[in-house]
Amino acid sequence: MQSPGISETYNYKVVRQFAIASVVWGIVGMAVGVLIAAQLVWPALNFDLPWTSFGRLRPLHTNAVIFAFGGSVLFATSYYIVQRTCQVRLCSDRAAAFTFWGWQAVIIAAAISLPMGFTTTKEYAELEWPINILIAVVWLTYAWVFFGTIRRRRTPHIYVANWFFGAFVITIAILHVVNNLAIPVGPMKSYSIYSGTIDAMVQWWYGHNAVGFFLTAGFLGVMYYFIPKQANRPIYSYRLSIVHFWALIATYVWAGGHHLHYSPLPEWAQTASMVMSIILLAPSWGGMINGIMTLSGAWHKLRTDPILRFLIVAVSFYGMATFEGPLMSIRSVNALSHNTDWTVGHVHSAALGWVAMISFGALYHLIPKVYGLQQMYRVSWINTHFWLALSGTVLYTVAMWVNGLIQGLMTRAVNDDGTLTYSFIETLDASYAGYIVRLIGGGLFLAGMLLMAWNVWCTVRQDDALSLDNSPVDPPVEHSMDPEKRSHDGVEVQA
Ligand code: HEM
Ligand code: HEM
Repeated sequence: MQSPGISETYNYKVVRQFAIASVVWGIVGMAVGVLIAAQLVWPALNFDLPWTSFGRLRPLHTNAVIFAFGGSVLFATSYYIVQRTCQVRLCSDRAAAFTFWGWQAVIIAAAISLPMGFTTTKEYAELEWPINILIAVVWLTYAWVFFGTIRRRRTPHIYVANWFFGAFVITIAILHVVNNLAIPVGPMKSYSIYSGTIDAMVQWWYGHNAVGFFLTAGFLGVMYYFIPKQANRPIYSYRLSIVHFWALIATYVWAGGHHLHYSPLPEWAQTASMVMSIILLAPSWGGMINGIMTLSGAWHKLRTDPILRFLIVAVSFYGMATFEGPLMSIRSVNALSHNTDWTVGHVHSAALGWVAMISFGALYHLIPKVYGLQQMYRVSWINTHFWLALSGTVLYTVAMWVNGLIQGLMTRAVNDDGTLTYSFIETLDASYAGYIVRLIGGGLFLAGMLLMAWNVWCTVRQDDALSLDNSPVDPPVEHSMDPEKRSHDGVEVQA
């Protein structure tokens, strides 16, 4: 620990860059989502071209929304939070800049190679080996910047948000390297070192923990910082947040087998992952309660503050998705939900309701701050965005839940003589209305994202906004120090 120096400033430049990148990639990723949703309504939109076909654009969508949009949000927020809670500048501006440009290079490489058909075929790990090596280098640099900054901190303790970010950084590094171990056989072709059931097991250990650490732990870090800040209240229980942290990370890593029910994976492994998934409800809800209860005594703020609304509604969706997930992991329930739109509904209730909404709340809070402004250009537009996002999420997920149940029940129906009652095409026909509703929901969600982009553009273009290359005028550390706060259980918290 060092004593504060008058001249030190935060590195907000990299935070601004990642924040703007989040908005740009959010639009791109969600626009591709709307396009593939439209393709499922009007197949002619595949244009009979390989690179615009659903099969190639679907991984483009998932990579763009998870790694380009979600990843940029996590870089922006973690760099912002680690500096403010440790009251020290990032340990290396150059390394931080490398993570920004390196990550953008990864995104561009993905955006070119996926439509061209280069793929490992592993879901959420489709990128080929040269890109994977670049990801590993960028990620290790990120780890170095993040932990190097924590090491230089001026605060006596490490705020809980940083624990979640730390677990996210370390676990993603391990998952990425282990799941992508492969033998290259050409410039853009490789074969995994795993095969058969082992391959499937490693892949879903990766896949589930990509959910658990990329889409959950990192965003819980976001929750633990931005809800107390925006509500101007201390976190409900600091002790609960520590229990939440250890219980969550200890449980998540065992649950991946629930993606492989009724597969050649040994039955005991399927059962173990099912049990761990059900246990996972407890830490997940502990975290949700901690986030929501932070508002106790300040509920009235929800009436007037659309940023807080985004943050709190996001945590509520997190609670819903983490109730639904354990339910779907029960083998007999999974027999109904697996390979139906129920899974897609679960994914998007969490992806839109939790990941995207908490990101919007955090970005609306952070962007004015890192540009030296009081607030966003138009607060009323944030409110409009909130209602567009909420109605889009509800339409999307309800349509998929209904479709999922219809599909699950139809494909399981059998006649007295044991033959199937319905053909596959009949289940597709019954799903058509749901696909139209999903498209409308996705369109509303994207419209909200476009409104956000316009609001951000107007905000950063204001005369009194600090320009990107003007970062030395960032506020001195002492001036941006936040007041000491106590949580409800009396633990001192510095957020
Ligand atoms: C405008 C918003 C969005 C729309 C219209 C949309 C649409 C879609 C569509 C049509 C699919 C393919 C479903 C299928 O194969 O049947 C899909 C898959 C997926 N999307 Fe989105 N999406 C949106 C936003 C997001 C966001 C923000 C995230 C993550 C943060 C996300 C994550 C995913 C994932 C993980 C899948 C794969 C699901 C699975 O394999 O079960 N999407 N999306
Ligand atoms: C307690 C927490 C959770 C549990 C136990 C859980 C469990 C499950 C289960 C059982 C499935 C269906 C697997 C299958 O039938 O193939 C699933 C799918 C999925 N979940 Fe969750 N879930 C949880 C939370 C979340 C959250 C918070 C997110 C995202 C932010 C998420 C994202 C996904 C995705 C992307 C898939 C689709 C994977 C695929 O491509 O097949 N889940 N989850």
